[in-house]
Amino acid sequence: MRFPAKMLQTERFVLRAAQSAYAHNLFDAVVESKADLATHFSWAQTPTLAGTFTDVEGMAAVWAQSHMLTVTTPTRFTYFIHDATDDTFLGVISLSVTDVWVPTVELGYWIRTSAQGRGIATEAARELVRHALEDLNTPRVQIRCNKLNKSSARIARKLGFRQEGILRQSYRGPDGKLMDMKIFSKLA
Ligand SMILES: CC(C)(COP(=O)(O)OP(=O)(O)OC[C@H]1O[C@@H](n2cnc3c(N)ncnc32)[C@H](O)[C@@H]1OP(=O)(O)O)[C@@H](O)C(=O)NCCC(=O)NCCS
Repeated sequence: MRFPAKMLQTERFVLRAAQSAYAHNLFDAVVESKADLATHFSWAQTPTLAGTFTDVEGMAAVWAQSHMLTVTTPTRFTYFIHDATDDTFLGVISLSVTDVWVPTVELGYWIRTSAQGRGIATEAARELVRHALEDLNTPRVQIRCNKLNKSSARIARKLGFRQEGILRQSYRGPDGKLMDMKIFSKLA
């Protein structure tokens, strides 16, 4: 599989490969959205600026390897979503290469609390899914979400994904409890 593009554009948003210059913006968005994120992600329990910088440096290091020709190890490519008009930091969307041989990629996303409900996740995800299926020639894109996460399941369906089933007790939530996850896929 080829490396994903470092920048993607939609009608209203710009998706940029994660880089340290945006670590402050990411931290502000995580702090603002802690109540939304902490129920899903363990990394959002106690956000710190230093931890955010370390995380973003790790994300940027993944992108720094993109001079190589192909992705050879399971890797996560993280993009920061910005408003195309005023450059406001809106959220995060990522493509995880879960299997390099097929290859299979998995989409993950979150939108800062103050920007939710404006179709941002749907628009950003539509472009990243298109990029994966059409430009990178991946045969399959998948989305996993908590069985109770209605808005995430709605996004998957709006983008033409099909639910394949429920992966029982396949995710341990931040509270330590095991969760059932819906799995969706879209094929090229
Ligand atoms: C899930 C999340 C990414 C959605 O982002 P968003 O930009 O607000 O999403 P969109 O506006 O593109 O679309 C959300 C859709 O879900 C729908 N929705 C929201 N709450 C819903 C509910 N309780 N039941 C059914 N549908 C719901 C919205 O109406 C919308 O569908 P519509 O366009 O047909 O009206 C955001 O809420 C978030 O960051 N949540 C916390 C982290 C998370 O859950 N990430 C996903 C992990 S898999």
